[in-house]
Amino acid sequence: MKHSLKKLLLIAFFLVLGSPIILAQYNIIPQPNSIQSGVGEYKTTQLAEIQHQNISRQSQRQFTDYLIGAGFSIGTKQTATSTIKLVVDKNQVFQSDEAYKLSVTPKNISIAAKSEKGVFYGIQTLLQLMSDQQVPAVEISDYPRFKYRGVHIDVSRHFYSVEFLKKHIDMMAHLKINNFHWHFTDGPGWRLEIKKYPLLTQIAAWRTHEIWKDWWATNPRKYVDIRSGEKAYGGFYTQKEAREIVKYAAERHINVIPEIEMPGHSEEVLAVYPHLACSGKPYTQSEFCIGNEQTFKFLENVLKEVMAIFPSKYIHIGGDEAEKKHWRVCSKCQARMKKENLKNEEELQSYLVRRIERFLNKNGRKLLGWDEILEGGLAPEATVMSWRGENGGITAAKSGHDAIMTPGEFMYLDSYQANPATQPEAIGGFLPLEKVYSYNPVPAALTAQEAKHILGVQANMWGEYVTTEAHADHMLYPRVLALAEVAWTEGKNKSWADFKRRANQKIPFLQSKGIRTFTLSDEVAFAHHVDIEQKAIRVELSTEKYSVDIRYTTDGSVPTTQSALYSEAILVKDSAEISAQLFEGNKAIGKPITNRFDYHLGMDKKVTYNIPINKYYAAAGEKTLVNGEMGGLSHGDGRWQGFMTNGMDVTIDLGEPIAIKSVSARFMQNVSPWIFFPKEVVISVSNDNKTFTELKRIPTPYGEKTEGTLFHNFGWNGDANAQYIRYQALPNGIKGGWVFLDEIVVW
Ligand code: ACM
Repeated sequence: MKHSLKKLLLIAFFLVLGSPIILAQYNIIPQPNSIQSGVGEYKTTQLAEIQHQNISRQSQRQFTDYLIGAGFSIGTKQTATSTIKLVVDKNQVFQSDEAYKLSVTPKNISIAAKSEKGVFYGIQTLLQLMSDQQVPAVEISDYPRFKYRGVHIDVSRHFYSVEFLKKHIDMMAHLKINNFHWHFTDGPGWRLEIKKYPLLTQIAAWRTHEIWKDWWATNPRKYVDIRSGEKAYGGFYTQKEAREIVKYAAERHINVIPEIEMPGHSEEVLAVYPHLACSGKPYTQSEFCIGNEQTFKFLENVLKEVMAIFPSKYIHIGGDEAEKKHWRVCSKCQARMKKENLKNEEELQSYLVRRIERFLNKNGRKLLGWDEILEGGLAPEATVMSWRGENGGITAAKSGHDAIMTPGEFMYLDSYQANPATQPEAIGGFLPLEKVYSYNPVPAALTAQEAKHILGVQANMWGEYVTTEAHADHMLYPRVLALAEVAWTEGKNKSWADFKRRANQKIPFLQSKGIRTFTLSDEVAFAHHVDIEQKAIRVELSTEKYSVDIRYTTDGSVPTTQSALYSEAILVKDSAEISAQLFEGNKAIGKPITNRFDYHLGMDKKVTYNIPINKYYAAAGEKTLVNGEMGGLSHGDGRWQGFMTNGMDVTIDLGEPIAIKSVSARFMQNVSPWIFFPKEVVISVSNDNKTFTELKRIPTPYGEKTEGTLFHNFGWNGDANAQYIRYQALPNGIKGGWVFLDEIVVW
């Protein structure tokens, strides 16, 4: 909408309501915490004099470059007709050194803050406000909700260039993100030059296969000596390049946190320095031997070089997913446990973390690690990154330690962000933009005092499946936009509807900066709610695109421009096959999505589990299979019920003998998390719950080696009269394999 038209609407609202309600829409991400509309606009074609107060030369240059780069006309005292005043005022009261006040009138712009960082953020907001050579008059008083706002990028699984990182650092700065967590080391490749240990970058940084998945499938997974001239995939950052990134980020008020993994995820180190493994042999384990003093010598030497490159107060030492079995049978580890009076291998791990913490503290640094560092007792000063849900963060905060929230369910950007069938292969999960946006980093379990230990929030981009920089752009954006607002904007100032508008508006800007962002799903999303009282299913349709129409049919036919326009929930009293599609005016976009809803004969009936529910995938317990809730794309969404080794076997009691025409259940297959279709389904009926008559036996239609997530209905159609329906799914015989189903539909 053009600005003048928007203003007219605003005025119309004032006239109708008679009160000055602020309805102006701005395109700032993250949304400022206080914003008031003024009258008129500042035209960027007028010549402005920039006035600085307490601003360093270097920042003066940077701020001027930003303003000129964005199209502001800058003149001199003599030629200027307006002013842009940039002020650092240590005496003014601000919530933090990142807070700022931005005032725009038709003639003047001023940004004031307690520090240059605040002014920098004021400039980012100003640039985002500008469009069509003007800036609307506003008064903004802004500050961050959290002091830690982070993005993590894994460069071990696949290697990304310095230029790529700079591009992302630029965008982080634009979004007021202030920490870049650089995951340098992991089994698939060591990525930082360490002068004392050259084999790390001559061999451990190079592997036999480019694509992580191909390399991971080999046994043993080999590294390649790059000096041999053999074909290899990998790379590393020289110390000079790492320093260049640190400087580039610092100029944009971003701290770079290096992560050097220990004691696990270190098979690349042990391949080239095998004396640091319990066995003394390469390719035998991923964990450093903690009983060996050489391990500490190596780690401290590496960290010395790391600290010389990275001024970050925090040094991340990983700490996640270490296997403990090698330590259990290692004489050196066992001797260490005895000598140090350590009760178990968790305490042995904790011994390493504490010792490394003392080393870091002695050097003026702080230890940061994944939540496994809580196992065996947390090191005294450590800060925890909570990734396995929120419990790590809660435990840390309750014991007086700082925590950064980065739970997999909300913050792992390696998950799918739309229908997997439309996306490049990902590790699994389902994390669309709205779900990232919905995250509240302060767990409800914390008191206000404990919540002060939640420093902030971070999104993580792990690279297993992210083989190219274009793909990495796609996984990061637009979801990092949501992370930025989760981290900066107070919960009460957030709005999904308004954020959706701003995120869509931002996509062309991201593209103009060379970020090959995902452009958001062009499929309609379905949600539904079962109303047992009303005996109906309420179906809600939504889209993450803005602004588009949703049109739908209820007979399964393809929606057209003549189909019903969606405006409120659709009530399904019996069965409906709802097909929905997005339309931009008269143009259909994407593909129609069809879902069937059945308020069926089995709804809310008693279900007896002849094989007990598995506690990990119980979903909604005994009601799961007759509550009308169809599962989504992820087996962990709480609507899919999972069963292990013995498969599943339930009996539904319909209350009285009735005529039935079909019994059917939908199963999922997703080989990565070891979920398979059943080998066979047996459906039988009875009137006394003792003698059952078999209606149908259905063998699996698929093999075990399928890609992606598949769904299949195993059902019977015919005529029967019964009170009890028994539904059995036999597992496919794979050890540890799961079967997952969401609903048994009876008609
Ligand atoms: C992690 O995702 N292993 C921290």
